[in-house]
Formats: sequence, structure tokens, C-alpha cells
Amino acid sequence: MKALVCEAYGKVEDLVYRDFPDPTPGAGEVLIDVAAIGVNFPDGLLVEGKYQSKPETPFIPGGEVAGTISAVGEGVSKFAVGDRVFGWQAGGGGYAEKIAMPETVVHPMPDSMNYDQGAALLCATETAHHALKQRGRLQAGETLVVLGAAGGTGIAAVQIGKAMGARVIAVCSSQEKLDFAKSQGADDGINYSEQDLNKAIKALTNGRGADVVYDAVGGDAFDACSRAMAWDGRLLIVGFASGRIPTLPVNLTLVKGYSVIGVFWGTFTLKQPEDHAANMRELYEWFEAGKVVPVIDKGFALKDGIEAIKYVTGRNVRGKVVVRP
Ligand SMILES: NC(=O)c1ccc[n+]([C@@H]2O[C@H](COP(=O)([O-])OP(=O)(O)OC[C@H]3O[C@@H](n4cnc5c(N)ncnc54)[C@H](OP(=O)(O)O)[C@@H]3O)[C@@H](O)[C@H]2O)c1
Repeated sequence: MKALVCEAYGKVEDLVYRDFPDPTPGAGEVLIDVAAIGVNFPDGLLVEGKYQSKPETPFIPGGEVAGTISAVGEGVSKFAVGDRVFGWQAGGGGYAEKIAMPETVVHPMPDSMNYDQGAALLCATETAHHALKQRGRLQAGETLVVLGAAGGTGIAAVQIGKAMGARVIAVCSSQEKLDFAKSQGADDGINYSEQDLNKAIKALTNGRGADVVYDAVGGDAFDACSRAMAWDGRLLIVGFASGRIPTLPVNLTLVKGYSVIGVFWGTFTLKQPEDHAANMRELYEWFEAGKVVPVIDKGFALKDGIEAIKYVTGRNVRGKVVVRP
């Protein structure tokens, strides 16, 4: 099969599109003929050796796919050959024509869902879902501020925030991105490349501050939000797309009475499988109701996978990018 391979840790540009041995499904695994691959910001970090895990080289990055099952390993009980599915695994193997995955990380794809949507539905969307539900305990009527709101996980947080009944303030670096976030349900917008973010959040909340902040950006935006939290607020740490992991003067949390809460969706799926399953049931309902539907910005061929990853890490994306083998 063809795949995009990381031969040695380094630049995304050094990935090689080449032949790679076909995977075979082990016990409890299914083999998927990949129709679409979801491009996620961490794919670039993994190749650069900047992610939490470091697989041995050579390896195939990416872990989010949608496709059709072409073989099943011993003991597989949930799926059969021909099933349309989507799945995500931490161990990589995604940027390829075929992938073997444990059936436990694979989900059936409803007829109403296409492969691009399936490949874009887990990592970004379910991170936002878990963050706002289990970690943020977002309540209807609360004010949710979403940083990088036009990005993959940001736009999912906008849609899910609205599905949960919150007032959503989108924060983006351009008017065009703000317009996109508003088209997906955001009630208000702040352009943080032009406005003082702390002052703008306070102005939009009559000085109260944000009940929940969804922060996948970090850096200066985190610094501003750490001073714009409402009493009993929850500042959710999701990622550091800006490139700077911020530090926090913890006296701010004391004076303002808010919590800073870490979010790690991959580990959540392993440690709280029942909550993850309940989230997935809710996600299917939201999808069928048209409330949470991934927006596909662009599709790339597998041979152009480098371009796809750089499009995402280069701050261009509005919604999700997929690669189609
Ligand atoms: N904790 C978890 O479980 C989990 C799961 C999935 C993803 N993540 C993390 O969440 C972050 C976002 O992922 P994503 O897939 O949503 O990425 P994305 O689609 O590229 O969105 C990231 C957003 O961050 C903003 N940004 C600010 N400074 C940036 C910079 N220097 N370079 C690139 N973007 C910048 C951009 O919006 P503006 O241009 O509007 O500023 C961009 O839309 C990543 O750090 C990722 O590792 C965490």
C-alpha cells in the first residue's frame, strides 16, 4: 500500500510518500480500507518529535480515519467485512491506504454520514465534547469563550457549546474567521489580533468575565483569559497552538475564585470508557439533529499529505482538513 512515512524525526516536509507493507489485523483488530483521513494539529507535532508520544521510526503518522472494513482479526465481535466505520488510535498508521485498529476504538458510521465527516468527527469534536461536558461542566445560559474558534477543535467547541445551551463568544485572528465561527452558531466575536482580549471579554459580559474558556491556543491568549474569568469559572487547557506553553500566577485563581482544568481526550477514552461511550451516543444524536456537523475546509490527495498538514499547522484552516487516499 501507499503511505506517508516519517523516516526520522524532523520537518513535516521530510515525510516520504512511498510503498509500505500492508498491515494485517491482529486479534481483536479490524482492517480498514481508508477513504478519508482527518488531519489534526498534533500530526505535525508528532513528526517534529514535539508530541507526548514518540513512536519508533519509520512510522506512519496520523490516527483518525474513516473507511470500510476489509478484514477482521480473531475474536472481533462488533464489526464485519463491508461495514462503514470511523476510528481514532494514538499509535499512528493513519496516513495510509489501509490501517489495522482495535475494534474498541472504531465506531459505526450512520448512513447519513459521509467519509469526510467521519474522519473529522473524533479527535477535534470529541475533545471539545469531553472538555465542555466532563471537565468544564458547562451549563445552559453560561458564557463560553472559545479561542482559535475557527480551527478544528475550536469550531467543534462552538457547535457543542451552542448544543449545550451556552452563549458562545468566538475568538479568532481575522474577521473572515470570525464570520465563519458565527456561521456555525457563535453569538459574538472578538478579533484578538486587533482587540485587547481581556477587555473585550469583560465588555461583552458586563464586567463579569467568562464562565468557561476553551483554550487550545495558549500563549498570550491564555494570559489574557486568566485575567478575564468569572467567579467559579473554568479555564480549560486543551492545547498550545500558538507555540508557547503559558505559566500562571496562581494568585489570580485565588482572587477570582476560578479553576484551571486540564483536558486530555485520548487518555479520557481509556480511563473513562463508559463516559466516552455516553458522549458518543450524544454526538450521534447531535449529528443527526444537524447540531454538531464537521465542516470540511479542504481535501488533499495522500501524496499531498505534507501540504495538508502544513495547511493546518500554518494557521489557515476553517474547520477540518481531510486527506483522501
Ligand atoms: N487536549 C487534547 O486532548 C487535544 C485534542 C486535540 C487537539 N488538541 C490540541 O489543540 C490544539 C488545536 O488543534 P486543532 O486541530 O484544532 O488545530 P487547528 O485546526 O490548526 O486550530 C488551531 C487554532 O489555533 C489558532 N492559533 C493561534 N496561534 C497559532 C499559531 N501560531 N499557529 C497555528 N494556529 C494558531 C488558530 O486560530 P487563529 O488564527 O484564529 O488564532 C487556529 O485556528 C493543538 O495544540 C492540539 O494539539 C488537544
